[in-house]
Amino acid sequence: MNLESLDWTALERLRAAFLSGSAGKAAYWTSLSDLASYDATFAERIGWKWDSVLAELTVAGWTPPIGAVYDFGCGSGIAGRRLLRTWGGDRLQALRVSDRSPLAEQFAVDAAQREFPGLDVARFDASVPPATGTGTTLVISHVLNELPSAARTAFLAWIGHFDAVLWVEPGTHADSQALIDLRESLKSQFRLVAPCPHQDACGLRAPERQSDWCHFFAAPPSGIFADSDWVRFGQRMGIDLRGLPYSYLVLQRRDSRQVHVPPLETAGAPEGDTARLLGSPRFYKGYAKLFCCQKSGVGEVIFQKRTDPALFKRLERQKTGTQFRIRMDGPKVAELQEFPSSGEMPAGSTEDTVVL
Ligand SMILES: C[S@@+](CC[C@H](N)C(=O)[O-])C[C@H]1O[C@@H](n2cnc3c(N)ncnc32)[C@H](O)[C@@H]1O
Repeated sequence: MNLESLDWTALERLRAAFLSGSAGKAAYWTSLSDLASYDATFAERIGWKWDSVLAELTVAGWTPPIGAVYDFGCGSGIAGRRLLRTWGGDRLQALRVSDRSPLAEQFAVDAAQREFPGLDVARFDASVPPATGTGTTLVISHVLNELPSAARTAFLAWIGHFDAVLWVEPGTHADSQALIDLRESLKSQFRLVAPCPHQDACGLRAPERQSDWCHFFAAPPSGIFADSDWVRFGQRMGIDLRGLPYSYLVLQRRDSRQVHVPPLETAGAPEGDTARLLGSPRFYKGYAKLFCCQKSGVGEVIFQKRTDPALFKRLERQKTGTQFRIRMDGPKVAELQEFPSSGEMPAGSTEDTVVL
């Protein structure tokens, strides 16, 4: 980040709009310079959340269909560009961007063309659904709380035209609840790829779970804490640079022509044996409490250090992913295994296992 080129007044105005909840009411991008300052700071932090989601998907062996990525509410276009960094070339061969602000669309197109010279990049009209089954991947990032709730039904119908959907929002209780509502509405049409370890109703809908939420933490690059520009940005904006909570949803159309074999099933891990770790574990002497989502429900389980000291240490150091194979013995974990581990690419993750 080059601090000298940042427009601090614009950043403070944007931050105030995001915090006050007024951002949904009117377009707030006033110049390309606003977008450049946003892209280098707030959007970069959002990019770290995308990195975390994309790393989990990559390790799990999931890929989007071959085709184009559509970035809706693109802002400076960070989400589409992050997907292209991961799957550009092979699978994602074009980028389409849309925003209610033409300035944002222009910035996103220019930024993508700079980073990926020669890539087919253009704006798209979000009032026209794409042709279904043509390999369309929709990305939505930090837009949900700006959308009018009256438009929700039409929006859901529009989403139904895409082959895959990747959606990241801030990890607040409200955003998580909104994503869970969307999950429930879309799951008849879409397979739930992540973070859900099962295809049943969301366990957080149980009455006793209303105060909990589905969220994760991304790790910012360690170098930023020693970077005086980032430290000053954090201080001036009142942002704790360590905290990068997010909620997310990855969906894949059930009738897509490019149906991916779910890696967990291919590798012989039935839904009932898998767990997604939500939030952060709480550590005590000799054990940790893990808040886990499983097919049987969402709740806290006890993981004793002696069960697997090496994994316990990795959890303490935040060096694991969030998906595990689990075997319980009452409320205690009898066996916990990171799945898939970074070194373990499951069969079923490659192009030739795609079934039509
Ligand atoms: C907080 S910004 C997020 C931008 C970008 N997706 C990111 O993750 O950095 C929200 C974006 O949604 C756009 N937006 C808000 N309401 C919209 C609508 N109804 N239709 C299209 N774009 C919208 C805003 O103009 C803004 O660019």
